[in-house]
Amino acid sequence: MKICALADIHYDVNRKNGNRYFAEDLAQYLKELKPDVFIVPGDTAESLEGIIRFFQAVNRAQIEHRIFVPGNHDVWVNGKAEDGSWIKYRNAIPAVCNELDWHYLPGNPLKIENTAFFGSMGWYDYSTANPKWDNLYSYDDYKKKENPEDVRWMDIEYARFNMDDRSVAGQLLNEMETDLKLLGFKNGSEQYICSDSAVESVVFVSHIVPYTDFINFRNDPVWDYFGAFIGNTNIGNFLDRLPRNLRRIAFFGHTHFWKSQKMPSGVEAYCVPLGYPYEYGDTPFADLFKDRIKVVEL
Ligand SMILES: [Fe+2]
Ligand SMILES: [Fe+2]
Repeated sequence: MKICALADIHYDVNRKNGNRYFAEDLAQYLKELKPDVFIVPGDTAESLEGIIRFFQAVNRAQIEHRIFVPGNHDVWVNGKAEDGSWIKYRNAIPAVCNELDWHYLPGNPLKIENTAFFGSMGWYDYSTANPKWDNLYSYDDYKKKENPEDVRWMDIEYARFNMDDRSVAGQLLNEMETDLKLLGFKNGSEQYICSDSAVESVVFVSHIVPYTDFINFRNDPVWDYFGAFIGNTNIGNFLDRLPRNLRRIAFFGHTHFWKSQKMPSGVEAYCVPLGYPYEYGDTPFADLFKDRIKVVEL
């Protein structure tokens, strides 16, 4: 089974400032790659219309399994509803997926051949802040989502869950555990145990980063401040408890630094963002997305 993944597509921004036909070009490339599964780990567009247009373009590649997990930008809302992001996460985006034949992974784990798939957007809980600045920033400083130079982390404005970040993070972590159990995994003393002997691999998808190794610190307190909003180490600890007799793969994005690393637990971790046009440097777009799509054969 051939699996491809690409996160942080930011369809609206890339279409406007990068390449107007980039989703069509991507679909064409996917058609050549012929994956069995294409996974998008979040940050596709801030508007539902953007997500719809991107899905429609990719559908032309005729990939059998198209899997989606939203990111923080996908759940951004402009309206007044205090829990608008939950509504997008639980209702509006799943409805779009259903309509366009994409598999909405949160709450709907699935098995394809001998591989189990599950996932969640995940949410940050400030556990990936640079410990070097622990004396400089308090929990309340992170809660403000504004660094000492008054640069804001825009989730403060547009991500509306009507609860604090740690509560969102905890709720989504519980849902990951529930989904894993739906796949036939049981909690053991040190690791989960898979009761389905046919399962050989497990693929986890989140938007948020599960491991601190993927956070790009610069040892500059003003830049590093934003590390608090990139990941959640509880997700990594959870993944490290997946059964070691299985091949374990995690796809995610959110930070726009492409990186792959095998963790000490054996989890293959792949951060696979496309990112924004201004982050490409001199690389032509066409070459860039070809480099950034991660292909895994199972
Ligand atoms: Fe992003
Ligand atoms: Fe993101």
